[in-house]
Amino acid sequence: MLKEYQPTIELLPFNARIQSFPYNELKFGTSLGEGAFGKVYQSHWNNNKIAIKVLKRNGFHNEGAKKSFISEVHALGSIQHINLVHLLGYCIKGSKHMLVYEYMSNSSLDKWLEEDNLLDWDRRLCIIMGVAQGLAHLHKCNPIIVHLDIKPQNILLDQDHTPKLADFGLAKILDGKDEDVMRLASTSTPGTIGYMAPEIQEKKQASAKSDVYSFGVLLMKLLNGSPFILNGNEVRIHKFIQWARKVHVEENGFQQIFNVVINNSISGFDDTEAKSFLEISLQCIKKDPNQRPGIQEVLQHFEGLNKKKGIQYIPTSIPVYFNILSKRFVSAFKLK
Ligand SMILES: Nc1ncnc2c1ncn2[C@@H]1O[C@H](COP(=O)(O)OP(=O)(O)OP(=O)(O)O)[C@@H](O)[C@H]1O
Ligand SMILES: [Mg+2]
Repeated sequence: MLKEYQPTIELLPFNARIQSFPYNELKFGTSLGEGAFGKVYQSHWNNNKIAIKVLKRNGFHNEGAKKSFISEVHALGSIQHINLVHLLGYCIKGSKHMLVYEYMSNSSLDKWLEEDNLLDWDRRLCIIMGVAQGLAHLHKCNPIIVHLDIKPQNILLDQDHTPKLADFGLAKILDGKDEDVMRLASTSTPGTIGYMAPEIQEKKQASAKSDVYSFGVLLMKLLNGSPFILNGNEVRIHKFIQWARKVHVEENGFQQIFNVVINNSISGFDDTEAKSFLEISLQCIKKDPNQRPGIQEVLQHFEGLNKKKGIQYIPTSIPVYFNILSKRFVSAFKLK
C-alpha cells in the first residue's frame, strides 16, 4: 500500500522556527558520513534525533559573515515541504559553523540501491515522484532555488521511506525566472560527476533545467538499480548516459535502451510504467537544456500514474523565499 502524502507541517516534530543551538549542549554521536561541505553527525535534542553538519570551511571570520550566515539559515529554514529535509537551525562556535537538520532514520537512497531487492517497484516510483515534488517546490520559490546536486546521497528517507531532498541550502539561488541561466565562477564545479548536467561541466552555466537533467539520471538509476553495464562491462554513469542519448535518436533506439536499462527483476515490476518512466528520463537527459521538460511538466506526466496508484499529491502553492542572501554566504558555500 502506498503512502499518502500529507502536508509537511503536521509531520514536523519541531517548532518551525529556526533555533540557535548552544554548542556545549550539542552531543556529537556517530558520524553519518562526509561530503564536500563537511561531516555529518547523529545527535539528540529534546528527545528528538537530529543530524549536525559541521561545515568544513571556516570562512566566517567577521561579524558581517556571521550575520549573513544566520540570515541565510533563517531563510532556508522557512522553506518547508514534505519532500525537503527540514533545516532546524544552526550552531556557531568561534569560526566553526554548523547546520542542524531533522534526522532521517532510513539514511540516504544510495544505501538502498546497493542491492537490487531492497526497494520494490512501487517504492521506487513513490521515491522518484517525491523527488520531483520536492524539486518542483524549490523551482517555484521566488526567487527560484536550483539544487545543483541531485543524486542518491542527497535523497534522504524518513521512517516511512518518504524521500526528502537534502542540501538544498547549499544550492545557488537564482534571482530571476525559471529560464534564467546562472553563470558559475570558473573555479566552482557544482554537483557530482555523472549526475551533473553537461552545460555545467562544459560552459559553467546552470539553470533549473540542470536539476531536471540530474533528475533524469536519478530516474534511470532507479529503473536500473544496479551499476550500469554496457557490453558486459560496468561503465561510469556519464558514459552510460552519453550512450543512451546517442542510441535514443536511432531507429529502434528506445527498445534497445529499454532492454539494457530496465531491471525487470525488481519486485512488482510493471512493463508499461517502465516504458513511460524511461521515456521521461530520456527527455530529461537531453543535452540541450531548452529541450528538457520543466519539472512541473514531469509531474504532469506522473499524474496519470498517480491516479492509478492512488498516491495523493499535496497541492503546490508558490512558496516565497526571503531573499536576504549575502554574497559572502554563497561563497562560503561555494559549490564544489
Ligand atoms: N539529516 C540527515 N539524516 C540522516 N542521515 C543524513 C542526514 N544528512 C546526511 N546524512 C547522511 O550523511 C551522509 C553524508 O552527507 P553529506 O551531505 O555530508 O555528503 P553527501 O551527501 O554524500 O555529499 P554532498 O556533500 O555532495 O551532499 C549522507 O550520504 C547521508 O547518508
Ligand atoms: Mg549531502
